[in-house]
Amino acid sequence: MPQTLTIRTAPLPVTPAGIIVIYAGEGMPPRGAAADVWATTGLDFARVAAGAGFKGKQGQVLDIAAPNGLEARRLFVLGAGKIDPDKPATAAAWTDRGGSLAAKLLAANAETAAVLLDGHEAMPAAIAELAAGLRLRQYRFDKYKARKKDDESANSLTVTLHVPDPAAADAAIASRMSVAEGTILARDLINEPANVLGTVEFAERAAALGALGVGIEVLGEAELRALGMEAMLAVAQGSPRPPRLVVMRWTGGKPDVAPIAFVGKGVVFDTGGISIKPALNMEDMKGDMGGAAAVTGLMQALATRKAKVNAVGVIGLVENMPSGTAIRPGDIVRAASGVTIEIVNTDAEGRLVLADALWYTQEKLKPLAMVNLATLTGAIGVALGSEHAGLFSNNDEFAAKLLAAGLATGEKLWRMPMGPAYDKLIESRFADIKNSGGRPAGSITAAQFLARFVGNVPWAHLDIAGVALGSPSSETNAGWTSGFGVTLLDRLVRDNYEDK
Ligand code: BES
Ligand code: MN
Ligand code: ZN
Repeated sequence: MPQTLTIRTAPLPVTPAGIIVIYAGEGMPPRGAAADVWATTGLDFARVAAGAGFKGKQGQVLDIAAPNGLEARRLFVLGAGKIDPDKPATAAAWTDRGGSLAAKLLAANAETAAVLLDGHEAMPAAIAELAAGLRLRQYRFDKYKARKKDDESANSLTVTLHVPDPAAADAAIASRMSVAEGTILARDLINEPANVLGTVEFAERAAALGALGVGIEVLGEAELRALGMEAMLAVAQGSPRPPRLVVMRWTGGKPDVAPIAFVGKGVVFDTGGISIKPALNMEDMKGDMGGAAAVTGLMQALATRKAKVNAVGVIGLVENMPSGTAIRPGDIVRAASGVTIEIVNTDAEGRLVLADALWYTQEKLKPLAMVNLATLTGAIGVALGSEHAGLFSNNDEFAAKLLAAGLATGEKLWRMPMGPAYDKLIESRFADIKNSGGRPAGSITAAQFLARFVGNVPWAHLDIAGVALGSPSSETNAGWTSGFGVTLLDRLVRDNYEDK
């Protein structure tokens, strides 16, 4: 049974619980109501902290078992890091704090915890980030573990956040948790193996957002053919699983305002096709729909928090398989835009899907701006590791908005260069362009390829191949995939496109 996490708020002061949690800043004793809690133990804070080597740094914990005077199994003093009233912590720092707290509560097998948040910690937005961090760190994908470990942690954890203004905190938490659940939907979709989540099944999961008021349109093979989407169809033709293009519309904004569009690469499994990949780590390619998963998670987030924005999500779902019906290197196809493509490498399939999905989005949905997310190139991981996703854009202002959202949320981006000089690498002898320029500037030529299917609309391409899969564990993620992109793009919407 998966562990359930309940987060609720209550007024001050803290009430008895299995574990009581207070915070202390770097080089400072607990202050305000936290100081009162500490005082009941009768312990000398400076002495205990020095003895335990606790300095109040972010991530540190001072763990007092069976504290005198408190009805609790344990008292945790958590390090809040440097507290500078002139430089308030970023949202991401608060999410990390929540993640670190979850790790400590899970390790202690807590069933109930009471967390005291007052003073500088009590801003509703900060409390909401802490709650999101708790949930994101507690998430596990263990549905296929038939045998559970004996030392299993408690199967439910209830965390009560004691705050000065519970009503204000509740509203902020509800909104932020919608986004965290969007990230978790993205993680679930990415973690799901490809035998379970094929193109049709993914489309069904996306269509389920209809229940939240999201308009859903699912295009099948016949419709894609009628639209001339030979690039996307070419990838799909090697698999018995049919392609799907799903359009998700959320209309929470003014009726006459054009939408912001999000487009995702949804390759449910990427074998490479006839240009087949090596066996080592090929299982990771079940996550080659990470862009589409982020778009779906984002649309769920916007709908559940009833964002005052018009947004569309478009995902191109295919499977890239080698077979007797698969595309061959050298095949030439005509994309829906009319551009002809020589497919020199069947493993450069994501850009073929996006070529048609981007063209469709801009022609049919007339967005005011368009962002696509894709696990597009291994090369982006070589360049940036898992610290930053690659950002490619035709518009400096739009790029700046995305970079800012990245810094605020911790889903960081690094802008990469683009320019006509790179187009030479994807010139084809036989067609307008070829789908791979080989190893040099592999991520950039992929972006140049996508740009051929984008007109003048402000556009950004996020290459998330290095950040979405095989994530090193972080404060907010204990699993294989981070669900990268949902928090980032929700922030982009909140800060720039939402009616106030
Ligand atoms: N899905 C892969 C990119 C990828 C690699 C994602 C590793 C996540 C982790 C993509 O379709 C691909 O195969 N790209 C090729 C492009 C090349 C053939 C031009 C690559 O990166 O090698
Ligand atoms: Mn590929
Ligand atoms: Zn791929």
